[in-house]
Amino acid sequence: MGIKIADFEMKTPIIAASGTFGYADEYEDFCDVSQIGAIATKGITLEPRLGNEGDRIFETDCGMINRIGLENIGIERFIEEKIPILKKKNITYILNAAGSTIEDYAQLASIANKAGIEAIELNVSCPNVKSGCLEFGVDSNSLYELVLKVRKNYDGCLIVKLTPNVTSIESLALAVEKAGADAISAINTLKGLGIKIDYINGKFYKKEVQGGLSGKCIKPVALAMVKRIRSAVKLPIIGMGGISRLSDLFEFISAGADAFEVGTHNFTQCDACVSLALELEEFMRENKFSTFEDLKTVIKEIN
Ligand SMILES: Cc1cc2nc3c(=O)[nH]c(=O)nc-3n(C[C@H](O)[C@H](O)[C@H](O)COP(=O)(O)O)c2cc1C
Repeated sequence: MGIKIADFEMKTPIIAASGTFGYADEYEDFCDVSQIGAIATKGITLEPRLGNEGDRIFETDCGMINRIGLENIGIERFIEEKIPILKKKNITYILNAAGSTIEDYAQLASIANKAGIEAIELNVSCPNVKSGCLEFGVDSNSLYELVLKVRKNYDGCLIVKLTPNVTSIESLALAVEKAGADAISAINTLKGLGIKIDYINGKFYKKEVQGGLSGKCIKPVALAMVKRIRSAVKLPIIGMGGISRLSDLFEFISAGADAFEVGTHNFTQCDACVSLALELEEFMRENKFSTFEDLKTVIKEIN
């Protein structure tokens, strides 16, 4: 069940997606977090951020919209307070890094390198902040420059997370590959708008949340994006978007994914990353697949 991306080893191919699993220790009451392939941390910036004011979450029929706005404790506190806990508890983690300028990302990478952080996922695709982040993820020249600068400062496993909110995800994937990243993860949330109108005692009331749409409703978009990325590059792809069950993993493999992240589903099934991995392991044992690589090969060959 174990997999390796560059030199980064994970116990299973299933990762808890950034922003849906806190800094990992919050989930300890619900499952054995150390069994999870890896945890992508909440998006971390150079300085702490309070995130957006007002409503941040909107529930839709088959997903959710969020506009958290990258609330986080900042890289210094993450290194001082969280890494010792993660290490002590044998939790494999990936630092999800975000910034407002290319220099922010380069500096974060250099700090992470010094701190011995083994894997970074660059969030160049957050739709919920006013400047930075998504701006780099939609332009292949800026993205190339950003990844190149980060690569120069960082020796560990470098993953770049792409947004689906673009015309050509292929050109972005190519820029990431050319700049020397080790893997691509996709997709981040889709831009969405939730509106709820209530009519109470002769008066209308409105709740409106504009942010990133995630969950089961985005799976077809995610599969399409993974397939398009696979057609453009050879890099390993970590697929995500609405994953909640074993058959979803097979669908993502078929589209071109090599590993998976589970996001919104963690909010309704807190042990999802552990139980999905167990289900996958059981399926492999029952059907005599000795490694995850073998299973992937067979699924990718289905016509
Ligand atoms: C509440 C919430 C917060 C998120 N925060 C981040 C973040 O900080 N960094 C990031 O790269 N992605 C973030 N995401 C996006 C997820 O990691 C994931 O890409 C997206 O939700 C699609 O997967 P899913 O449908 O399984 O949730 C967040 C998603 C949600 C729902």
